[in-house]
Amino acid sequence: MSCEGLRCAASKFATGVAVLTTTGADGAPHGMTVNSFTSVSCDPPIVSVSIGLRSSLLAILSAASRFGLSVLSADQRAISTRFAGTSDARFDGIEWRPGPSGAPLIENVIATFECRKHSEVTVGDHVVIYLEVESAETFDGEPLLYFASRYTRLEP
Ligand SMILES: Cc1cc2nc3c(=O)[nH]c(=O)nc-3n(C[C@H](O)[C@H](O)[C@H](O)COP(=O)(O)O)c2cc1C
Repeated sequence: MSCEGLRCAASKFATGVAVLTTTGADGAPHGMTVNSFTSVSCDPPIVSVSIGLRSSLLAILSAASRFGLSVLSADQRAISTRFAGTSDARFDGIEWRPGPSGAPLIENVIATFECRKHSEVTVGDHVVIYLEVESAETFDGEPLLYFASRYTRLEP
């Protein structure tokens, strides 16, 4: 099975889009766009994200214990693009707030999760990070979707 073939087939599994965030040792906010977010367990409440070994954020994410996940709304495509880019200033001009545990949370999203790291395991060329959810909130709005390597939205 080629990597390209797997990517192509897996891209047919439509997902939402979230921004995974944390605070670095220097107190600065960090974040990256993820669509590997998965709900894993209800008891205890665990979700997972899968991070490529080549991500420049991997060292920061591996060292961190508190995380935020912000599920983007349909009109936040630009935020997804920003947090999937290479800029070091991804939070510039972005509306965000520190959640109760300090993890950055993006404003105007449709759901937020505040999490503590449960565990992580390297699987092939990714690190799967399991996160215990300490609190979550939902808000009205339509989701930003990702399907076949393109952004899309729910049909009206
Ligand atoms: C819609 C979308 C979903 C993404 N999901 C993931 C993901 O789940 N895991 C991952 O490692 N990278 C994912 N990426 C890529 C990262 O967002 C991107 O490579 C990264 O932020 C680039 O900078 P970095 O090297 O600092 O990570 C995704 C990109 C997009 C556009």
